[in-house]
Amino acid sequence: MSDQPLLDIRELQVTYWGRSGLSMRRQPFHAVKGATLTLKAGETLGLVGESGSGKSSIANAVLGLVPASAGSIRFDGVDLSAMKTHYPGEVRKQIQAVFQDPFSSLNPSMTVEDIVSEPLRVHTGMNRAERRARAAELLEMVSLSAEHLSRHPHQFSGGQRQRIAIASALALEPKLVVLDEPVSALDVSTQNQIINLLYERRDALGIAYLLIAHDLALVHHISNRIAVMYLGHIVEEGPSDRVYSAPAHPYTKALLDAVPLLDPEKQRLRRAARKRAPPNETPRDVSSGCPYKNRCRWAMARCHSEAPPMFAVEGGGAASCFLLTDPGNTANNDKLKESATQ
Ligand SMILES: Nc1ncnc2c1ncn2[C@@H]1O[C@H](COP(=O)(O)OP(=O)(O)OP(=O)(O)O)[C@@H](O)[C@H]1O
Ligand SMILES: [Mg+2]
Repeated sequence: MSDQPLLDIRELQVTYWGRSGLSMRRQPFHAVKGATLTLKAGETLGLVGESGSGKSSIANAVLGLVPASAGSIRFDGVDLSAMKTHYPGEVRKQIQAVFQDPFSSLNPSMTVEDIVSEPLRVHTGMNRAERRARAAELLEMVSLSAEHLSRHPHQFSGGQRQRIAIASALALEPKLVVLDEPVSALDVSTQNQIINLLYERRDALGIAYLLIAHDLALVHHISNRIAVMYLGHIVEEGPSDRVYSAPAHPYTKALLDAVPLLDPEKQRLRRAARKRAPPNETPRDVSSGCPYKNRCRWAMARCHSEAPPMFAVEGGGAASCFLLTDPGNTANNDKLKESATQ
């Protein structure tokens, strides 16, 4: 087996052009500012970060829904960025997607059979009876049944609709499924059921996932690696367990802090720490230095003038924070320890 990643994203930039304020001139807005990520066949990369950080822009660039303005995206050895948004059928077949609410854009008169068998109709030579049989099989695979084939999307709960969307995305047994917040609209127990279903299917079919979520805690079990985004930058990346249990970047730590803790003592310590931290500032003055500097409680003079590169982190992966530059420095170690244990 080759060691070549299935998905190889290098220095990707995604830029939108729009008018801001009263200006008649179109201004560029850089939603993704040089993201580098790799994903191996059969593995899951969790991509997390707050709203507006650029997660969907990366997903949409991989899916060919928006063009890369710089950098490259290679999938299975093919340079997708060179094709702009016109992927050949063979590539489209191998990359499928599930969105937060894939049904909102569908015609309500479509049946579940239409939805699940659509990829089969487009990409295979199957006749209607064969497609129907395969759609029934796919529904059973996601714990629904053939009886559901003639029903319409509005007759299902949110969780069931995501099962149908997953069945459709898996119909062609693609190599990669891009999952953009597939469980964000669901209640907690349904979220876990869908994550478990994805887990099971991935291992059975050997599919790779690019899994986008807000909640690191929810996706860390299923992810092999986690990448954390902040304002268009990947600020940390590494093996899922290391990123979850010993976050190296102050922003990753803040993301984990946002997850409710069941232990009241830990919860109390966390609240106290939050009071000591500077208030959440709105992102501003991001033109130079570290993108997180205005919200970071450890920001130093250097963070305002220099953008930190990615530094290797003990236990695997890397993070872009100057606190990692000098592992022998005890003050830094204390800060990181504090950041990892609170
Ligand atoms: N078509 C577009 N035109 C202009 N700006 C856009 C467009 N799509 C996204 N943006 C902007 O790009 C930035 C990144 O958006 P993106 O949707 O990639 O973030 P996200 O991390 O997926 O956020 P969320 O968690 O809310 O889905 C945001 O500031 C957003 O407003
Ligand atoms: Mg998004």
